Amino acid sequence: MATLVSWVPFWPPLRLSIFLLAIMTFSIFLHSRGWFPASGRRLPSSNAMGRPPAMSPILPPTTPPATERGMWTVNSAGRLGNQLGQYATLYALAKMNGRQAYILPEMHRKLAPLFRITLPVLSSDVVRSVPWRNYELHNWMSEEYRHIEGKYVRLTGYPWSWTFYHHLRQEILQEFSFHDHVKEEANRYLAGLRRQRWNVTYVGVHVRRGDYVWLMPQVRKGVLADKAYLEKAMGYFRAKYQEPVFVVTSNGMEWCRENIDASRGDVYFSGDGKESSPGRDFALLAHCNHTIMTIGSFGTWAGYLAGGETIYLANYLLPDSPFQWRFKPLAFFLPDLMMDPFGDSQEKVGRTNPQRLDFSPPPPPCLTKVHADAP
Ligand SMILES: *[C@@H]1O[C@H](CO)[C@@H](O)[C@H](O)[C@H]1NC(C)=O
Ligand SMILES: *[C@@H]1O[C@H](CO)[C@@H](O)[C@H](O)[C@H]1NC(C)=O
Repeated sequence: MATLVSWVPFWPPLRLSIFLLAIMTFSIFLHSRGWFPASGRRLPSSNAMGRPPAMSPILPPTTPPATERGMWTVNSAGRLGNQLGQYATLYALAKMNGRQAYILPEMHRKLAPLFRITLPVLSSDVVRSVPWRNYELHNWMSEEYRHIEGKYVRLTGYPWSWTFYHHLRQEILQEFSFHDHVKEEANRYLAGLRRQRWNVTYVGVHVRRGDYVWLMPQVRKGVLADKAYLEKAMGYFRAKYQEPVFVVTSNGMEWCRENIDASRGDVYFSGDGKESSPGRDFALLAHCNHTIMTIGSFGTWAGYLAGGETIYLANYLLPDSPFQWRFKPLAFFLPDLMMDPFGDSQEKVGRTNPQRLDFSPPPPPCLTKVHADAP
């Protein structure tokens, strides 16, 4: 459908619907007459079972026609971690509302080089001509998101909470599976770190620096991951596994080199200690067995894709931070990340193991209900 509608000029919604309906009807007609065998999406072949064409199914009975399913998209904002969150949220909410999801060309350009994403891409002409209804999301699932009105909806905001999509975890992992060459490069790099070890456990470490170095303490009343936090998190894995290998990625490599003790010989700085490309770093982290993150969507997504355990900075916002309402810890970290593996609730660490959770679809939890005290 993406190519079919790419040349539709600006039309009001009703005429657009009629136009699409006409195209669909026409193409179904052509399919049913067997005149158009190689076009468009793969439909059940009329000849496969040797049945006469008139009796063969044209569309699966439960799928409404494309014109009924509308066209939903999401803004393409921010860098890799945000884009992953927007994609997954669109995927889940469109499905929940029975709509067809499409992504913007910008999002496709950012995600397609790494991942085998499958949502169809809108052409810029369609993006311009469709009368979108913008729908702003906050970053956790809410009951009202199950009933979003509109056939042409553009979700906006920076959603990346697991509460939107964790009930579709397998599908999301499939969407974000890496291309073979990316996978091979990551595995080759990790294999190169193995050296003489015979029972190695890879722990990806993502240290978010950059703008957060001043933003967290000065604007958000937050906490920045420090040397002690990283030592503690690495100590957790050193105690648990025979031969851990830590793969450090960061947008502040200089700080990492100065503050992460590499004297045991089990710490490696990605990109030879310089800032590497986000896509390459992300693939490395996602191929590790466990994750140490500090804060942000990039590290959270790396942990989600890697599986295993994720150690994160639990108290990254002070209790009086004005950003508490926007960053609900429960919305970002899977519930048992509230567990404290160090047995002291004052510690700045939490842990999660996404694979231990078993959400049956639907519904995903609605955190607005859990946190009725939020402003
Ligand atoms: C490999 O290491 C893990 C923990 O680090 C341990 O549980 C496991 O028994 C080890 N495997 C072998 C073959 O020693
Ligand atoms: C750990 O990660 C490596 C690299 O991706 C993988 O080959 C290995 O199977 C993983 N080990 C476990 C126990 O999952």
